[in-house]
Amino acid sequence: MKKKITLIGAGQIGGTLAHLISIKELGDVVLFDVAEGIAKGKALDIAQSTSVDGFNINLIGTSNYEDTKNSDVIIVTAGVSRKPGMTRDDLLGTNLKIIKQVAEGIKKTSPKAFVICITNPLDVIVMALQKYSGFTTNKVIGMAGILDTSRFKYFLSQELKVPAKDINSIVLGGHGDTMVPMPNHTMVKGKPLKKLINKEKLDLIIDRTRKGGAEIIKYLEKGSAFYAPAASGVEIAESYIKNLKKTLPCAAYLNGEYGVKNLYAGVPVVIGNNGVEKVIELPLDENEKNNFNLSIKAVKELFDTATKIDPDLKK
Ligand code: APR
Repeated sequence: MKKKITLIGAGQIGGTLAHLISIKELGDVVLFDVAEGIAKGKALDIAQSTSVDGFNINLIGTSNYEDTKNSDVIIVTAGVSRKPGMTRDDLLGTNLKIIKQVAEGIKKTSPKAFVICITNPLDVIVMALQKYSGFTTNKVIGMAGILDTSRFKYFLSQELKVPAKDINSIVLGGHGDTMVPMPNHTMVKGKPLKKLINKEKLDLIIDRTRKGGAEIIKYLEKGSAFYAPAASGVEIAESYIKNLKKTLPCAAYLNGEYGVKNLYAGVPVVIGNNGVEKVIELPLDENEKNNFNLSIKAVKELFDTATKIDPDLKK
């Protein structure tokens, strides 16, 4: 049985997701957007590449939730993206309203779906999506850590002149300026990173990773990053659909793990056909713990702001 994958939001990331999912033949794609023409146009455009690229899936574009009915996976990118000079947190008010509409749409039509959220500010929006939809916490996850980690690995690979694939690493915490790249948990071809790079260069790379999204926005002027975010979202969807049980850094619901309760934040999780199957607790040293807690504090504060915008979130 082919899987049905719905993409809510057919903008820059949504369109790229549709293309990657098609090329990987992960399932039939429904592109949903309030701007119906964008969804229909992109679906048709990608569908017309099937004869060239030879993939066997169907794509449709729609603005009607009925067409998304009984989806196996839903990836949400609906919302506005940052403009130069904006932080992810500046998007909160607008994207919270959009996510409420999305949650209402998907809970009626696809109550069994595994939902991957990409809309920013990620940690708070994914938590709002879980609360508004009422889906179980193992079925709602946020994509950010894979992207942040891939940026960290890419910058390290350029500095150390090794393929990014040879670097094993992780970025924890919230998807914002307080994210926590973990040099002590980074290995390059089996060697600890700290033996290969001096502190000065490492600090610069950590800072560039934290500002990785803003660097791209500055170049693009209109819109934000979309290729690497889409590739990262697809990795989660693939691990779920194929039950690969990959350990991936994602924004997941914490229920006591890492000393955090009732909050979404970036941690390594195992993704299989039950959704989030396990949160992996890495041992953190004092410094890493402090940085992680600072990041958690920032996510909590933003969630408090969200509950002031919409008191329904307190429920
Ligand atoms: N329902 C469905 N789609 C919506 C809704 C809604 N209620 N509101 C807006 N959209 C659609 C827009 O019409 C647009 O096509 O969401 C799409 C967003 O696309 P882009 O503006 O191109 O944004 P994109 O770069 O894809 O980023 C989307 O992901 O990484 C985050 O910060 C980013 O929050 C942003 C989101």
